[in-house]
Amino acid sequence: MILSKSLLLYTFLSSVYLHCVICSSNTHHIDSFLISCGEANPVRSEDGRVFQPDFNNTHVSISPISDIIVSTSQMGVPKMLSSARVFTTSSIYTFSTKKTGRHWLRLHFYPVKNARFDLDSAVFSVEANGITLIHEFSFFRGGNQSQSQSQSRSQSYHLFKEYVVDVTGLSSGKLVLGLLPWDNSIAFVNGIEVVYVPDKVFSSKVVPIPLGVARELPVRVGFETVYRINMGGSRLSPKNDSLWRIWESDVSFLLNPAAARNVSVNPDLIRFRDGVSTDIAPNWVYATAEEMADARVSDQRFNISWRFEVEQGFGYFIRLHFCDIVASRLHDLVFNVYINNQSAIDSLDISQRARGLSAAYFVDFFTNVSMGSDNILVQVGPNHLTGYLPTALLNGLEIMKMSNPSDSLDGRLGVNLDSTDVKKSKSTRLMIVVLSCLGGVFVIVVLLLISFMCFLCCRRKKKPKEDDSLGWSPLPTYVGNSGNKFSSSTFGSTTCLHSLGQMISFSEVREATRNFDKSLLLGSGGFGKVYKGVLENGLVVAIKRGNPRSQQGLVEFKTEIEMLSKLRHKHLVSLIGYCEELNEMILVYEFMAGGPLRRHLYGSNLPPLTWKQRVEILVGAAKGLHYLHTGVSETIIHRDVKTTNILLDENLDAKVADFGLSKFGPSLNQTHVSTAVKGSFGYLDPEYFRRQQLTEKSDVYSFGVVMLEVLCARPAINPALPREQVNIAEWAISWQKKGEIAKIMDPNLMGRVNLESLKKYCETAEKCLSENGNQRPSMGDVLWNLEYALQFQGVDVGDADSMRGISEIPDRIPEVESVDMETVSDLDLESNGTMRD
Ligand SMILES: *[C@@H]1O[C@H](CO)[C@@H](O)[C@H](O)[C@H]1NC(C)=O
Ligand SMILES: *[C@@H]1O[C@H](CO)[C@@H](O)[C@H](O)[C@H]1NC(C)=O
Ligand SMILES: *[C@@H]1O[C@H](CO)[C@@H](O)[C@H](O)[C@H]1NC(C)=O
Ligand SMILES: *[C@@H]1O[C@H](CO)[C@@H](O)[C@H](O)[C@H]1NC(C)=O
Ligand SMILES: *[C@@H]1O[C@H](CO)[C@@H](O)[C@H](O)[C@H]1NC(C)=O
Ligand SMILES: *[C@@H]1O[C@H](CO)[C@@H](O)[C@H](O)[C@H]1NC(C)=O
Ligand SMILES: *[C@@H]1O[C@H](CO)[C@@H](O)[C@H](O)[C@H]1NC(C)=O
Repeated sequence: MILSKSLLLYTFLSSVYLHCVICSSNTHHIDSFLISCGEANPVRSEDGRVFQPDFNNTHVSISPISDIIVSTSQMGVPKMLSSARVFTTSSIYTFSTKKTGRHWLRLHFYPVKNARFDLDSAVFSVEANGITLIHEFSFFRGGNQSQSQSQSRSQSYHLFKEYVVDVTGLSSGKLVLGLLPWDNSIAFVNGIEVVYVPDKVFSSKVVPIPLGVARELPVRVGFETVYRINMGGSRLSPKNDSLWRIWESDVSFLLNPAAARNVSVNPDLIRFRDGVSTDIAPNWVYATAEEMADARVSDQRFNISWRFEVEQGFGYFIRLHFCDIVASRLHDLVFNVYINNQSAIDSLDISQRARGLSAAYFVDFFTNVSMGSDNILVQVGPNHLTGYLPTALLNGLEIMKMSNPSDSLDGRLGVNLDSTDVKKSKSTRLMIVVLSCLGGVFVIVVLLLISFMCFLCCRRKKKPKEDDSLGWSPLPTYVGNSGNKFSSSTFGSTTCLHSLGQMISFSEVREATRNFDKSLLLGSGGFGKVYKGVLENGLVVAIKRGNPRSQQGLVEFKTEIEMLSKLRHKHLVSLIGYCEELNEMILVYEFMAGGPLRRHLYGSNLPPLTWKQRVEILVGAAKGLHYLHTGVSETIIHRDVKTTNILLDENLDAKVADFGLSKFGPSLNQTHVSTAVKGSFGYLDPEYFRRQQLTEKSDVYSFGVVMLEVLCARPAINPALPREQVNIAEWAISWQKKGEIAKIMDPNLMGRVNLESLKKYCETAEKCLSENGNQRPSMGDVLWNLEYALQFQGVDVGDADSMRGISEIPDRIPEVESVDMETVSDLDLESNGTMRD
């Protein structure tokens, strides 16, 4: 009722705007865009809906526009899927929506056979309004790596994905869909649907499993539909659902089909009341159910069980739909509901909760699927109390994956969050702020820079010789040159390179991890899991085991080996070996007992680091990056510098980790490398982002963000904060400009930081964040400035207030008894360190 009223009001108010011209057979749809990409004329889908072209559409824009369109007239390919728009650079679709709030986003991918591109082998990522939806997906994942996988997927595989993303804005909003090709690859899309989700669809509270207090859903969370099931009924097409959802049959998920039988009533009998409407689920869903089969025994005691495979390490929203279509009297049907072997509802009396027979009722749950379990088990079974019908039923079920704290629905933390307009506008905003501020003080900055350079030159001469920044010794390259391709023969050979720290047999890995014992799990992500292990020779290591089903792993796996086997430095995490037997992708690193830097800054109970410790850690990380940029014959750009990729050992010495995104820098006659934008949101160099031109100064920018994060002990991006504070670079630099940055620094540092040291530090961070890469210092200069800041902190100037304070207390080494799953799940994959046991 309320909804339809507000709908009317809304329709009235918006009558000045263009009416929704996109096909809508249902006046119910406010924002409803059905788009067939690359088509010149509207096409009708198999379910009868009309999809409009993505070009010349008033509500949809593409930027930069790609005119590469592939299509096929092959028999048997549905018209809507027979064309696709292909993108060679990161591009966005922008949908202007009338409503803000949650919207369904449905994507159709179909690798159309054509003469120009092999869409099967395209590798790309997809992102919408800041949520990573798909991370480095490919229909055919290269080589013989995933042969079984590609075989099981026929060539005419239609990938259909459904998400819920939040559209923000004042009165109207934008949904920005980014398609991001992996380096030198392409991205494509065949069809896009955007449909407004009426508020009440996700308004109710969710009950956590294990049972706890019901809570609200976080607003910014993105959802991906993994299962939507019509129990006991047949598949329902978009035409049978007011919001164009698809409902599948449940038969293939039943653990014991003999335990269940389907029941149904006339859909017209289903009653909707108390906020339940066909927007929640169509009457067809409530009109069918799976009920306990008659076992022809006097005391029926078993459960009906459905098992659904899901990706571990994510939270899941689970909605159960019930409707009492079997009892003839109220309160006759009472049964129990279990999720993952735990009680979800004890003694559910549907007719009481729904206030009637044949009345629709639903209830929402939330559960974390932790590492090591990859399914959700839903069971209904009879109540232990007697006097009720000896049966139980379930009418419908929806399971939706929820985006993780790094806004990803596919894989590990924030990797490859790329160019969407949201970010573009954010970074544009940032750029404008930085530029306008910089504009005023530009001359001063230049002057400062010049004097700073002179100062540097003078200082440098006096600087004591840096032992370890030069003390690296490049290892011979075992894997080959940069052009090396990993063929199965390279990996399949049993040549023992182990002594040189390379190939490790799978059996040894298995032994080292006690057959991947869960108790040794350090962390996990889209790539796979990280275990602590002990090699035969007694070396304690971190073992990263690629998930064979991960779409993203292979490229990064190769890059990581290629990079790390060329590098050895005190401040880079060393690769001890790898294993690629039996289709495994396993990397073995030195173990970093202190874990990622981020954990020492916020979000854990570790004791706060002192100023001196913080600067020392950054000095270590800067040395590692400086070596990457200058120490090897070819410049290497890390591309993913962030606080989770700086790991600490037991002495809090820093090492840079994760070279999965690294790239060789420009050669002598080039100034930059052109590449698709990769990296982590919040750390991304705006210049690189804008021009897609990569230089080592992009790492310097990210390092500047890390410096601010270390100073303020807060995440680079914190969407929970007021708008102007969300982005640390924007926020902290605005205070730095006022000369008052000390006001927002970590309270634990207040009064314990030498002011000169702080000044030097903040100036350096500010320079790192210069809009223009040329104005940013080199990593070597940053390193030197940090050491300089460190010296100030070390010198006693007799001012007790601004002095060392506790920084001199020696053994402040954090202790933590164990790592629990929840903290682990929000760590990066490279958090291959835990606290000492
Ligand atoms: C787009 O519209 C313009 C003018 O209305 C027309 O000239 C052009 O051919 C259209 N393009 C496509 C691809 O339909
Ligand atoms: C993949 O496997 C096929 C046969 O199984 C083989 O002929 C081919 O050489 C393999 N390709 C690579 C890159 O190893
Ligand atoms: C319901 O059960 C009958 C017999 O067990 C079966 O033939 C029919 O296909 C089932 N219907 C659905 C929708 O699963
Ligand atoms: C789906 O809707 C059509 C009418 O639009 C109806 O004829 C058909 O029976 C429905 N199918 C199911 C399974 O509900
Ligand atoms: C539930 O219990 C069964 C049998 O005890 C077990 O096999 C299964 O792994 C359990 N599932 C979960 C999610 O705990
Ligand atoms: C149904 O499943 C739950 C959870 O797995 C279990 O505790 C219960 O004993 C089962 N009931 C019957 C009758 O098997
Ligand atoms: C799931 O994990 C999140 C953090 O990872 C935690 O806040 C939440 O309480 C957990 N929920 C349940 C039901 O365990």
